[in-house]
This record gives sequence, structure tokens and C-alpha cells, in this order.
Amino acid sequence: MMIYEQIATGGCQSYLLGCSETCAAVVIDPEISQVDRYLGLAAHDGLRIRYLIDTHTHADHFSGTRQLARQLGVPVVMHRESPAPFVDMRLDDGDMVLVGRLRLRVIHTPGHTRDSMCLHVEDRLFTGDTLLIGATGRTDLPTGDPEALYNSLFRGILRLDTALKVHPAHDYKGGVHSTIARELAENPRLQKRDRAAFVDMMRNLNLTMPTHITEALRSNMSGGKTIAHLLAEAAAAVPFMSLAELKARVEAAGENLIVLDVRERDAYEKGHIPRARLLPRGQLELRVNDDLPDPTRRILAYCEFGRISTLATATLRELGYQRAVALDGGMKAWREAGYPLKSGSEP
Ligand SMILES: [Fe+2]
Repeated sequence: MMIYEQIATGGCQSYLLGCSETCAAVVIDPEISQVDRYLGLAAHDGLRIRYLIDTHTHADHFSGTRQLARQLGVPVVMHRESPAPFVDMRLDDGDMVLVGRLRLRVIHTPGHTRDSMCLHVEDRLFTGDTLLIGATGRTDLPTGDPEALYNSLFRGILRLDTALKVHPAHDYKGGVHSTIARELAENPRLQKRDRAAFVDMMRNLNLTMPTHITEALRSNMSGGKTIAHLLAEAAAAVPFMSLAELKARVEAAGENLIVLDVRERDAYEKGHIPRARLLPRGQLELRVNDDLPDPTRRILAYCEFGRISTLATATLRELGYQRAVALDGGMKAWREAGYPLKSGSEP
């Protein structure tokens, strides 16, 4: 029996499929912000994740395959056309991935991207962005091709058993279930069954670019981190101090806390936290030896929004300043709270 979980991140859909007999499982199209949820669901269902599959190179969300693969020591699986260098197992049309007793059959469906594939398992078809409920994947992003999509649909998956359930990588309505038969009957994009008319329609959709496309492609194609991931890693490695706590400590003279403003000089001079020293983030590594000779001192770093100071604090901790903390918030929140400000250059 198949254990099935659908996990939505906004409109992005991912799936955890498990074999109840062997407890082996696979995640299809994991999203990076949901990594803990997949692990939690798998544990809750008594499953062990064996494979991480991306149906294609996503341009609109951040894939969690690589991070999960690292944590679990299991392979990242994609079609062989994927440009990502970290793919461990590359698949061809007609290949099967065995997940316990489940058999996931690969159908190469280029069009939305060159590396798109659908996965057929029992009575379900995981369509990636090839076929969506009431739509198709777009073909105007890198490696998209409307002619190829026409073939993948009308000469490919739409000829499969029409009772197959359709599970796309995107669905903005949520909780909607569909089948090949229903899509053939109701999906407006599938009503143009003539190749030229279909291609013409796909070329003239004039869709807006997905947000974060540059970052999503960079991260998904290289395995590099997203900015949010980089910040989350830094935040996980440092403690924080609240604005109110810092205010109390700044006001209590004699407190042995070094307050570092890691913004640029002009921002510092316009208004900074009383007693703060200026040490711009860009100069941190160059100046720590002179400016912060005692690694046992308690140091608090702050910036405008609380992100750069988190990175700075993580760097300080890496350098051995084991009492470095980051401000939970930044100067913006400090000003908005009406807390005391000082302007002008350093004392
Ligand atoms: Fe996509």
C-alpha cells in the first residue's frame, strides 16, 4: 500500500510517497523551507526517505533536494538532462526507481524545461510542471520549448490511462484532485489540439517572470545556497539579544558589553545606539585583531535590519569570539521603538 502526503508551499506542491510494507519513501519536488516538515512527516508515518527527486530544474522555488540529501545520505535524482552537477542518479525515459515495493516509472516530458519528467506510480501520475490542473507549465523560461511540450502532452502523457490521477508541481487552488480524463475535457490549454495552434498559444501567453527566478536558477542549477538559507545557517549558530534588553544594558553604565555597529560610516553618523563603536561588516575580518583584541569580551553586533549583523556575529563566533551575540532586530526597529539615538562620529 502506498502512503501519500501532499505538502504545499504557497502554490508549489511536493509529495512524500512511502511503501507501507518496507517503510521506504521518496520525496518529489521538495522545497527548501519545508525540509523539517518532510523529515517530521516521514518520522510520523514510520518512513525512511531513500530518494529525493526533482521533476525538473525549478525556476520559481528553491529545491530542498540537496540539503535533504546531505542530511540523509541519500541520492538526488533527476533526469539526465539536468544541468545540476550534484545529481547523484540521472534517469532516462522508461527507467524505473524502486522505492520499496513502489515502482516509479520515468516519462521524459521536455517542454516546460528540457529536463522535465513525469513519474508514473500505480494509479497516479506526478506531472511536475508538464501538466497542471487547468493549465500547463509555461515554455518561456530557460530550455522551454512549446513544440516539445506539445509532443510530451499529446503524444505522451495524455495517451496514458485517462483514469490516472494528476499530481502537479504547482497548484494554486489547493486540495484539487484531477485525472487525465478531466484535464482532457476541461483544461483550457488542452483544447487546442492542433500543433500550430497550441504552439502559437504558448508563445503568446505573456506571463510575468517568476519572482526570485535568478536566485532559484542559481541555487537549483549549482547547488549553491539561497540568501535565506545562508542567513538561516548563520542565525542557527548565534544567540540573540532583544532590543529592550540591549537598551537596559546600554543605559546601565558599567556594563561590560561592546556594542558594534556593522553598518557603513554614513549610516552610523546619522544615528547609532549610544556607546556603539563603528566596525563596518566589510572591514570586520581586517580589523578584528586591532579592534577586538580580547576574545573573551561580550560583543553585540547590530545593523539596519538584523540580517547583516547576524552574518557578522556568526563570523565573530567562528573567529573565536565566543560571547558574540546579534541584535534581534536592527536600527530600524530601534528607531521605531523610540529608543535613544546618538549622532555624529565615533567618540
Ligand atoms: Fe517549473
